[in-house]
Formats: sequence, structure tokens, C-alpha cells
Amino acid sequence: MAEILTIDPALVERYIMTLAQHGACGETGVCRAAYTPAWVAAQQQVADWCAEAGLTVWRDAVGNQWGRLAGTEAGPVIATGSHIDSQLPGGRYDGALGIIGGIIAVRALKERYGSPRRSLDVVSFCQEEGSRLPGANLLASRAIVGTLATEEADTLRSYDGETFREVLASVGLDADRIGEAVRDDIDTFLELHIEQGPILEHERIAVGVVEAITGSRTYTVTITGRADHGGACPMDLRRDPLVAAAAIIGEVLATASSMGRPAVTTVGRLLVEPNYPAIVPERIVLTVNARHPELAGGRALFARHEATFATVAAANPQLGLTWTGTDGGEPTVCDPGTVRLLAASAHDQGVTAKIMPSGALHDCQIMAQRYKAAMLFVPSKDGRSHTPDEYTAPEELAAGIQVLAAALHRLAY
Ligand code: HGY
Ligand code: MN
Ligand code: MN
Repeated sequence: MAEILTIDPALVERYIMTLAQHGACGETGVCRAAYTPAWVAAQQQVADWCAEAGLTVWRDAVGNQWGRLAGTEAGPVIATGSHIDSQLPGGRYDGALGIIGGIIAVRALKERYGSPRRSLDVVSFCQEEGSRLPGANLLASRAIVGTLATEEADTLRSYDGETFREVLASVGLDADRIGEAVRDDIDTFLELHIEQGPILEHERIAVGVVEAITGSRTYTVTITGRADHGGACPMDLRRDPLVAAAAIIGEVLATASSMGRPAVTTVGRLLVEPNYPAIVPERIVLTVNARHPELAGGRALFARHEATFATVAAANPQLGLTWTGTDGGEPTVCDPGTVRLLAASAHDQGVTAKIMPSGALHDCQIMAQRYKAAMLFVPSKDGRSHTPDEYTAPEELAAGIQVLAAALHRLAY
């Protein structure tokens, strides 16, 4: 009979609230873009917590913060963690929970059972959200598994136009050393994360065991027309890019809705230039983020969106219309053995669990390209995330950490 591990909800809440102070915005929001001063302070907080727990700490070539509880045996390590950066604004729990949960779980195992057989690594991924550098989603884990090319340091640019190389240099990191972040000594990776959707809360289940993670493609559509007087220029003489933007937005959202769950499409960013009431817009930039957990479903969704762009472009020859698409992670099936181990760990701890897919992207889907990997979810209040309203009760957080600790114990002791 497995020993029931107890995690103190009040301790978890203190960690959450402490980390949330680094980049706090508004009452309950967090604005912590990668490589900003708030990010530097938050990574240092993670390093301090790891050191206090008796872990050895280091930062890799792209700024991932690591902590290690050394094992008694040589060989591949067990790793757990999540991302330190947030949406702008985001909530207190997205990413932060997996880092804090990893530290608290490893500390609890150390204090109860001493040194593990296999080393236990906790990682705070430097950048997952792409909220500072569009197209840089899941960048941290790509560096670890070895799919981040050094050349991307000079092609990826922030919304403010800085290259990734300049952004790295601003915190003392050298883009030419990106390749040094690759890890080939990890056996299994576990990520604890908030669900960011309504299922666990609705079904009153304590943890989700993630068996599959959605795939995603983000299009950036640029439409150019001609600025004109919003009053004196007749409608039939205008070259108004918003006419095409409105057609595209309506069609891509209708497409995803007509395909039905689990297809989703989000138009989350819409730039109108020059953006004044009495000026017919000159230029529009909009994003279309499309997702589906199955490869064929994703391909069908993406093909229909690209057909929409082409149709609207052909119907508006008086406008310029171009688009680019970047993939944000392939649909991923988590390691079945690790999924079973997580479900068994929840059972042993007397915690209700449901095996389910993830509609959100996670570093776990990149880590799964090279290591055995799977995830644990805890409920999100009202199923909401990517908002300062994001919330999960301390007791629910503690239950997730309890199962994570039990799974790490199975893997490392
Ligand atoms: O977009 C996502 O699903 C992730 O939270 N960045
Ligand atoms: Mn997120
Ligand atoms: Mn996240």
C-alpha cells in the first residue's frame, strides 16, 4: 500500500503568491514576458527556492532554470517543471504551478525518503507563451530537445523588433551557445499544469491525466489598402482592407464552429493602422490561431483557412493580401506507460482522476519528441485561463502536487 503523501495547501498558496509578485499587473494578473526584469527576478526566485530545498542549481544557455536532487545511481534523470513566462496579461497559475509543484514535490520526497536512486531535475522553462516573441512558442523545450536552430536567434523577432539574439544578450546569454542547452540524459518528463478548460471542474474530478496534446498553427494575415477620408470618400471608391479582414474573420470562425469540437480557431490579435475613427484604414494585420488534436483534423482545418485567405484575396484585387503560417507544436500522444503510471499514482493517493486530452499547447509535447512524457492537470475555476481571472483553489493545487510527488517517487526511488 503506497504511503499517502501530504502537501500543505497553505505552503502552495504562499509560493504561488510570491512568484506572482514578479510581474504583477492589476489585482490578480501577471505580466511576465520572457527575459524581462520581472522574468529575471522570477527565475532567481526559482533558483533560491531550489537552493533552499538543497538542490544544486544552474541556468542553461537559453535561460532555463534547473534544480537537481542528485540520485545515488548514475544514468538518465527524471525531470519535471513548466514555464515561467506568462501571457500579457496572464494569470498566477499558468506555468507557475508546474514549477512550484516540482519544487515542493521534490522537497517533500527528499525530506521523507532522502536521496533518490535516479536524479530528480526541476526545470523552469524560460519561454513557452511567445508573448514577447511571436512564433517562439515552446522555445525553451525546443532548445532542450535540440530542435531550436542557432539561426533562429537572428530570424525570430520580438513584437518590438528585437532579434532573439538581442533579447538573449540583454540578460547576458549568448545565442551562439544555444546548442549547449540540449539534454540527452532525461528518461521521463512530467508536467503539472492547470487545465485551462472546464472539464475537471464540471465533472468534479481532482486531476486530469493527459494522454494527448493538441497541434496548432498560427497565421499572420497582412492586408494593405489605401487611407482615405472617412467622410468624403464614397464607399465605391475605397480600397478598405477592413472589408477583406471582416470576410476572413467571419469565415475562419464559422469554419471552426461548423467543424465542431475539438476544432478551435481564435482571432486574438487585430491591428488596424492608423486606427482612427475618421480614417479609412490603410493596413490590417490579424492572427488566426487554429488547433486540432488529430493530424488529419488539423490539416483539414488549416487547408480550409488557407482556402479562405486565397478566396478573399481573389475577390479583392484592389487590396494587397499576404499570409504566413507557423506551427506551434504537432498533435502529440503522450507516452502510454507514463500515462498509466500517473493514473496509478492518483489511484494510490486516493485522488480522483480522468484521462483526457489537452486543448492547450505545452512544453510537454516538445519534450515528448525525445523523452517519455505526460502531464497532470488540476481544475481551472469556470474553465478560464489566459486572463487575470485564472484561479485554482489551494487544496486543488495540493492534490495535483501530491499525485506528482507519488509519480516521481515511483520513477526515481
Ligand atoms: O497557447 C497555449 O495553449 C499556451 O498556453 N501557450
Ligand atoms: Mn499559456
Ligand atoms: Mn501554460
